[in-house]
Amino acid sequence: MTHPLLSVRDLHVEIDTPRGLLKAIRGISLDLNAGDSLGIVGESGSGKSITLKAILGLLPKNARVTSGEIFLDGVSLNSLNAPKRAELLAEKIGIVFQDAIAALNPVMTVGNQIAEVPRRRLGWSKEKSHQRAIELMELVGIPEAEARFHVYPHQLSGGLRQRVAIAIALSGNPQLIFCDEPTTALDVTIQAQVLRLLMDLRLKEKTGIVFVTHDLAVVNEICEDINVMYAGRFVESGGVQECFQNPSHPYAYSLLKSAPDMEHQVERLFSILGEAPDLTKAVNGCPFAPRCFAVTEICRSSEPELRNQGGPFSACHHSSTFKQSLGAVELTADGGQK
Ligand SMILES: Nc1ncnc2c1ncn2[C@@H]1O[C@H](COP(=O)(O)OP(=O)(O)OP(=O)(O)O)[C@@H](O)[C@H]1O
Ligand code: SF4
Ligand SMILES: [Mg+2]
Repeated sequence: MTHPLLSVRDLHVEIDTPRGLLKAIRGISLDLNAGDSLGIVGESGSGKSITLKAILGLLPKNARVTSGEIFLDGVSLNSLNAPKRAELLAEKIGIVFQDAIAALNPVMTVGNQIAEVPRRRLGWSKEKSHQRAIELMELVGIPEAEARFHVYPHQLSGGLRQRVAIAIALSGNPQLIFCDEPTTALDVTIQAQVLRLLMDLRLKEKTGIVFVTHDLAVVNEICEDINVMYAGRFVESGGVQECFQNPSHPYAYSLLKSAPDMEHQVERLFSILGEAPDLTKAVNGCPFAPRCFAVTEICRSSEPELRNQGGPFSACHHSSTFKQSLGAVELTADGGQK
């Protein structure tokens, strides 16, 4: 029987905070296969990074998965002890996080940092791991890889260090790579190169990609599927083309449709008026209701589930009709209501 490479079922995460218990993730499910490319977008604090960290077993100490199940290659992670779980995750999933550059070891040559993974995890010889590191450095577009094997991170530019981080993520031959804002700190040209590299990897190596970002233009460029996250849940989920052309949730609509020229207006998208709810308090009704142009009475009393309603999956009571409300309000350029 075939099964998805990664399957997450109804994941819940809670975090202890000084303000109380934060229900940061409130029921996330997803399926991913090698070669898939999923973008996860949503405003700051919606739970994108915590979702990835929960899957990877990298939650901060004050956070925990309270329910839900994660299957990796058909194996339930709940059924494994901690070392076995970490081993399986490291084998299947490579990680490039926002702070990937900072995570490089400043006193170890970049080549050794890349070679260390196959040597330790796959038990390869020093020579074979060295050779693999050179291959990976070439694959991620680091010129003069042989010579650069021996340099330290501070001797490389930001763009090259990010490539080293990607090479490390790939060094265990993962089938999936999780990227959390991996290009935010890079200038536009380097950003474009890194994105091209990720797209190449997907085509050549069938590496699946999960890409967390604020940048919808990037999702449009490199992802086939998109999940829009709001207040710890996915509120819209579907193919990128379909979601961009015909969003089925008012939040996704505000996010996606208010940017006709996505290349240049990305920053403005995330200034939809109002604030996301405080998840240390109980959520009554749709969490987007206080900000929604299509809100009705039912929205305030019952929280909609993500479900198939004809277009992209949507967690909205008025998925098929909310656009009719648009005649009554004038959206500002940032997607909020005047
Ligand atoms: N270590 C922590 N301690 C307390 N609260 C946390 C911690 N890490 C995250 N949170 C909270 O959990 C929620 C989800 O955070 P998360 O980092 O997943 O957001 P995000 O969508 O990745 O945002 P951003 O786009 O800013 O990276 C937020 O309310 C955040 O404040
Ligand atoms: S359920 Fe209601 S408040 Fe929530 S997004 Fe849909 S229309 Fe808006
Ligand atoms: Mg984040």
